[in-house]
Amino acid sequence: MSSNFQIDFTSIGLKKNYLYEILATTFSIDGTLMVPNTASMGLRLVDKELFKIWPYPNTTTYKNIENNKFLVLNFIDDVFLYALTSLKGYNLSKSDRALSEKYYNYYTLGVKEEYKDFAKRITSADSIQLPYLNQAWAIIVCIATNINQILRKDDFGEFKLMEVNLTVISYEKYRESFKLFNRAENLTLETIVLATKLNVAIEKKERALTESIKRKIEENVSNVMRFGKNVSALKAIEHVTDYIKGLES
Ligand SMILES: Cc1cc2nc3c(=O)[nH]c(=O)nc-3n(C[C@H](O)[C@H](O)[C@H](O)COP(=O)(O)O)c2cc1C
Repeated sequence: MSSNFQIDFTSIGLKKNYLYEILATTFSIDGTLMVPNTASMGLRLVDKELFKIWPYPNTTTYKNIENNKFLVLNFIDDVFLYALTSLKGYNLSKSDRALSEKYYNYYTLGVKEEYKDFAKRITSADSIQLPYLNQAWAIIVCIATNINQILRKDDFGEFKLMEVNLTVISYEKYRESFKLFNRAENLTLETIVLATKLNVAIEKKERALTESIKRKIEENVSNVMRFGKNVSALKAIEHVTDYIKGLES
């Protein structure tokens, strides 16, 4: 699908070929109910209006994209939301497991000819209400136009990722924010990623790797606490700690 939507994304600080960490909101359909889901995902702008993301095949994000094609990229400056949406452990209270309705607004997307075919599996109306995070300072609305399975390698060996091409169909900026994360927030993001890896290491019974990831997390946690004062980072770290307790129980 080609889109006639044009915007210069460098105006919101996105540079070609850089990797950004965003929160992707997708949805599933349960009867007549739209059920939103959000997760942190790496995003790359590969061409003027083409983005790529790489969800694991077992994520809800991927399953929702496969079924419903539409998704919203949320630009968020609260690192706590990255923790909530990335670490959905079952030890957490139900309200923390998946974001509840209070975190979402709905964006009205007029259904244009070029994506009518994608929209008709969701609604026969001439507009769709797409969920996005009400804390987003900007959103980009996309359709997944192509999906390829690719192989990557990391500490755990070779694994499958789904490479999803996203065509931009709409964009909204709600307020100014070119916020760069500060040191405590960057360290927090790194710690959240480590916690997702710890989950895999424990499941695969990789004891040496489990211990080394745990040590790194502990070091990061004490550094974030030492930097202090950043409420969002401290709340995120508390969430990470609860999540890890759940993995170990
Ligand atoms: C900064 C950051 C970047 C992430 N990037 C990805 C990614 O590119 N692909 C992926 O599958 N998971 C990524 N994750 C992990 C997912 O957010 C995590 O597995 C999440 O629980 C998936 O949720 P879902 O099953 O609801 O889609 C990332 C996590 C963080 C904190």
